[in-house]
Amino acid sequence: SLVSLRQLLDHAADHQYGVPAFNVNNLEQILAIMQAADACDSPVILQASAGARKYAGEAFLRKMVEAAVETYPHIPICMHQDHGGSPAVCQASIRSGFSSVMMDGSLMEDMKTPSSYEYNVEVTRQVASFAHSAGVSVEGELGCLGSLESGRAGEEDGSGAEGILSHEQMLTDPAQAADFVQRTGVDALAIAIGTSHGAYKFSRKPTGDILAIGRIKQIHARIPNTHLVMHGSSSVPQEWLDIIRQYGGDMKETYGVPLDEILEGIRHGVRKVNIDTDIRLAMSGAMRRSMAINPSEFDPRKFFRDATAAARDICLLRFEAFGSAGQA
Ligand code: G3H
Ligand code: 13P
Ligand code: NA
Ligand code: ZN
Repeated sequence: SLVSLRQLLDHAADHQYGVPAFNVNNLEQILAIMQAADACDSPVILQASAGARKYAGEAFLRKMVEAAVETYPHIPICMHQDHGGSPAVCQASIRSGFSSVMMDGSLMEDMKTPSSYEYNVEVTRQVASFAHSAGVSVEGELGCLGSLESGRAGEEDGSGAEGILSHEQMLTDPAQAADFVQRTGVDALAIAIGTSHGAYKFSRKPTGDILAIGRIKQIHARIPNTHLVMHGSSSVPQEWLDIIRQYGGDMKETYGVPLDEILEGIRHGVRKVNIDTDIRLAMSGAMRRSMAINPSEFDPRKFFRDATAAARDICLLRFEAFGSAGQA
């Protein structure tokens, strides 16, 4: 059944686990996530970005999620709008049936320019007010995703701030987080700790100076009742990078967020863990391999099936690692 983010994350907090929130754009990604959740009995967060709405169209996304709810009635599913750029965008998603929205007021409406704190409070407070009256949950964001290593925003995949950010902009301040939650009434808060969207997060295995997991503990101490959200949390499996390279792909050396660091976050209040890139890597690696080893095949379902199976394996590993398996 369709549930709000609040319902899902309250249960996660009561039982001390985290829920992966997977980005969805098409049928195969939704099938992969649902098959994995069904296999291990996990609750599910399906999230759609502005890019997903542009790719598939709002009606197709809505109907595919409806089909997931109908096919797996025993699995709680939250349909979440990822990175809403304005109250109007969030309002439209609520009308379209999303059970949760993210108002990302850390950036201006262009989704590139960092905003002022007061702007962020104002737009997020507005969204929380109309969303809550419709029974819809709200995620806010305080701090900008970006690389503490390079000082760059890490916008290579076109999502997130552009240009150079200060160290301060890229780390959520715990005292400000407490003020933000109190003034906006958000259900969940996305925090900045040095992660960024896409495959190129870190040029080496991250250590505490470039991945500030310790900051989560300080934030959680100030707002113990707010569910924390980690964005940019793909682990960027080296096995999939190798497969992509082996079958003709061109990817530079790169490292993601290690699962152990995510688990440390979950021990300190992280309840929602956003993952898009890992599914992209697994699906494109599996498609490259499938096309290479089946050169006479021209039914795309063969390639899509292999891609779906690869994504399903990633999802299952995340459900099990974060402890949401068995909690549906
Ligand atoms: O917010 C970041 C997600 O990876 C979505 O990416 O904007 O390319 O759909 P996208
Ligand atoms: P990744 O690019 O690390 O998968 O992060 C996705 C994300 O944060 C979506 O909001
Ligand atoms: Na989100
Ligand atoms: Zn994100």
